Order: sequence, then structure tokens, then C-alpha cells
Amino acid sequence: MAIQPDISKAVKILQEGGLVAFPTETVYGLGADASNETAINKVFEAKGRPYDHPLIVHIADIGKLDEWVQDVSVDARKLANAFWPGSLTLVLNRQPHVADLVTAGQPTVAVRVPCHPVAQALLKAFGGGLVAPSANQFMHISPTTAAAVEEEIGGRVSMILDGGECEVGLESTIIDMSHDRPTILRPGMITAAQISDILDGKEVDVIQSSSEKVRAPGMHHKHYAPDTRTTLIERMAIPEMIDDLPASQLPVAFMTHSNVHIPQREGVQQIQMPADAKGYAHDLYQQLRQLDHAGLQRIFIETVPNDPAWDGIRDRLSKAAEK
Ligand code: TXA
Ligand code: MG
Repeated sequence: MAIQPDISKAVKILQEGGLVAFPTETVYGLGADASNETAINKVFEAKGRPYDHPLIVHIADIGKLDEWVQDVSVDARKLANAFWPGSLTLVLNRQPHVADLVTAGQPTVAVRVPCHPVAQALLKAFGGGLVAPSANQFMHISPTTAAAVEEEIGGRVSMILDGGECEVGLESTIIDMSHDRPTILRPGMITAAQISDILDGKEVDVIQSSSEKVRAPGMHHKHYAPDTRTTLIERMAIPEMIDDLPASQLPVAFMTHSNVHIPQREGVQQIQMPADAKGYAHDLYQQLRQLDHAGLQRIFIETVPNDPAWDGIRDRLSKAAEK
């Protein structure tokens, strides 16, 4: 069903300082010329995003890295070579020309090379870098289809390139490589262990999301969140919760991934997710978006395994759920 994307029209819009939403393998991005401050400003306005929240610069290939950053360590290059194009974002010291609007005034800038063929075609044809935050309203669920982009920011963007469903479904892993000690600022489907492997077993720190505020001041707790009240629940507690829910709190949905037995009750729906992290990540935002439109009082999500492969998913679920 993928529509043949009109890359040249998109490039023209970007060159004129307009906004183009485009697919990446992680989630859809809201793209603007990373060298045009007026265009970047439109991104913040369209998303309702605070200015203290820095943006990722997307480039076509590793050859363009040095146009945006400096002091690239051997380790950082190893990671770029191993994971690009793909769902890894590197935070490195910025080149002086990179706008404060992109970096929120920080000395570092986040850069990545996406592998989605439409993103690749767009970046190659455009030539320069594109800032591209997830193409959703600030604090909402990231879009993983063109229809979801339309729903989030359709009226505020000149063009949406349709590249079908995003394969990964979760935002990129962000790693700070501006210091000696590699530090994951946002976990994703590329894990600390995979990164450590490329760095000959070097230790990789993973920052907990609460302390992420230090590096990314705009980071709020309630992020990636449905409007419907969302609660995490241990597998063992699900049957009792279903029995105990007062009728006035129905309908609800339980999003599960293990083979937990859900007692039958009217007004209680079960969404069975894939049991593997890759499949789960792929479906997560689309399912949450659908459930958010289903007129439910609450969404319950079964807690996911405490396994590194699930780090990115666990991080997003903890942000989607109430504290
Ligand atoms: O997968 C992705 O990364 C998607 C696709 C579209 O590429 N983009 C994305 O962008 O998730 P956004 O803006 O929704 O999230 C970017 C994150 C923010 O949490 C921001 O704080 C962090 O990157 N970030 C950007 N620049 C940074 C920097 N210099 N230092 C630390 N964190 C940074
Ligand atoms: Mg986002």
C-alpha cells in the first residue's frame, strides 16, 4: 500500500524552509532543514515543543558526520560504522555553526543516519542535514504510520511522505560519545550489550530516565503517553484486578505478552502482544494509539521482562504509565 513518495517535491519544500514528515525505521520524523533557523522554529511550533529540548540531526551517510560534529573518538567511529544506517543516535561535540536552536544551547549535538529507504532517498536528494523529532504533538505517542502523523500534526506540515509501517517502532537508542565513558541517554532496540560488543567489551553506562533531566532539561516524565489513564501491572496481579474493578471503571483493556489467563468479563478486553521484544516494539505505539481511541477508562499493561533486550520498551512504558 506504500505510495510512491514524491522526493523532489519534498526537497523543494525543505529548501524553502517548510516542514516535511518522513518515515524512518524507528518512528516518523518531522523534518526541517537543520541549517535554517526559521525552519527549525516551525518544528517547535508545530509540535508545541519547549525550546530546551534538543533535536537530532539526520544525515544521509557517515561521510557527512564531520560537517556537524568534532572530536570524534575512535570508539564513536566504530559505533557509527557498525550501526549506521540504523537506529543509533550519537551525541558528540558540535561544530560551531550548529544552531543553538538544534542543541538547546548545549556544546553537543545528536546525529543519526536512518536506514529507511524513503529517509535515505530524501536525505540524499536534499544533501544537507535534517532535524527530525518524532512527528507527534509534544508528550504524545510517536507515530509509526503516515496516518498517525496525519492525526498528530497533519494540519501543520506541508507534506507527509508515506513509507508504510516503521519496522523498529521505537525511537533510536541515544548514546553520549562526547566523553570517554559511553553513556546511553535513551535506551532503544540497539542494546548496551550490542554496543559494548563493538567496543571490545568496554563498559557502557545506561542513564536512568529520571536523571536524564540533567542532559536533556526539557525531558518530562509523562512522555510517549496515551490520553487514557495507563497503568503497569504485574502478570500475577491481573486476575484479581479484573475481579476487583468496579463496573463504573469499565471498559478497560489489558495489554499482555505472556500467556497469562485473563478471566472473561464484559467490558474487559485483552490485547495479546508479541512475546519477543522486537515484535512487541514494532506493535507498541500503534496498539496504544488504537486503544487510546477506543473510549476506554483505563489501559493496563503487563510489565515486561527485566531483560536488556526489553530496556527501550520498559523505558517507554514507564513514561506512558502513571506514577
Ligand atoms: O528514532 C528517533 O530518534 C526519532 C526519529 C524520527 O529519528 N527521533 C526522535 O527525536 O526520537 P525526538 O526529538 O523525539 O527525541 C530526541 C531526543 C530528545 O529526548 C532529546 O532530549 C535528545 O534526543 N537529544 C537531542 N540532542 C541531544 C543532546 N545534544 N544531548 C542529549 N540529548 C539530546
Ligand atoms: Mg519524541
